[in-house]
Amino acid sequence: MQSAQGVAIVRTVALLRGMLEQWRAAGEPIALVPTMGALHAGHLSLVEEAKKRARRIVLSIFVNPTQFAPGEDFGSYPRPFARDVQSFAAAGGDLVFAPETKEVYPAGFATTILVGGPAKAGLEDKFRPDHFAGVATIVAKLFNQCRPDLAVFGEKDYQQLKVITQMVRDLDLDIAIVPVPTVRAEDGLALSSRNEYLSAEERARAPLLHAALALCRDALRQGMPLKDALVQAHDMLTNAGFVLDYFEARHAETLAPLDQEGPIRLLAAARLGNTRLIDNIGV
Ligand code: PAF
Repeated sequence: MQSAQGVAIVRTVALLRGMLEQWRAAGEPIALVPTMGALHAGHLSLVEEAKKRARRIVLSIFVNPTQFAPGEDFGSYPRPFARDVQSFAAAGGDLVFAPETKEVYPAGFATTILVGGPAKAGLEDKFRPDHFAGVATIVAKLFNQCRPDLAVFGEKDYQQLKVITQMVRDLDLDIAIVPVPTVRAEDGLALSSRNEYLSAEERARAPLLHAALALCRDALRQGMPLKDALVQAHDMLTNAGFVLDYFEARHAETLAPLDQEGPIRLLAAARLGNTRLIDNIGV
């Protein structure tokens, strides 16, 4: 095991289990913050929330190949490992679990977790059909490897949050899922590791995605018919050069289309040049 700035860096499941067993034996609650690294203030807000609820914080850093489709950015996904460890240490974390791919998916690995419900809502899954199978499988593995008391996820990936919640409920996993609100830049852009792909000119336009969601939310609160509010937001984005994958109003818990009463969540995905942005907002 290595360590840096007081943070243990663990690469194998066996070592991870050994360390966590000591903490469990000492009665110290453990929180897991699953990430793919390239930490920004959004991730650090997950760590901060975890620290309010647990004595020991484990950060997993693993760029999970099975949640990327061929042609997506698996190869170019940023991997600033030393900087990530430094940020996590400064945030008061305890252990980074950063396994190699062969530790997670050894030769002969042959199991996939397929979640239904929110994973099949026709949002991200429509454009990234195998994505949530990859996410659910890696998160289930991380949960079994760590056996944390709680795990913290950002609302930025809202459909992912609902997929994990569904999986935990359906599989009776004894882990509390803690959602954390999206952290935004001052101009409203949701923080994302992928924002660094944006050119300066695209970065200047990118906050319009949040602005369109907020405009739609405000219009709905003021009583505008749903269809008109969606068209208004859609037009705002397409006029600004975004290519929309979806901009939809869904039931905030189930992500089902709005044919019943209930809380509403607006969810959007749009491409700006070569970068795909996602965001969402509660109504
Ligand atoms: O949200 C992410 O960074 C990833 O999807 C996760 C949950 C770490 C699984 O790889």
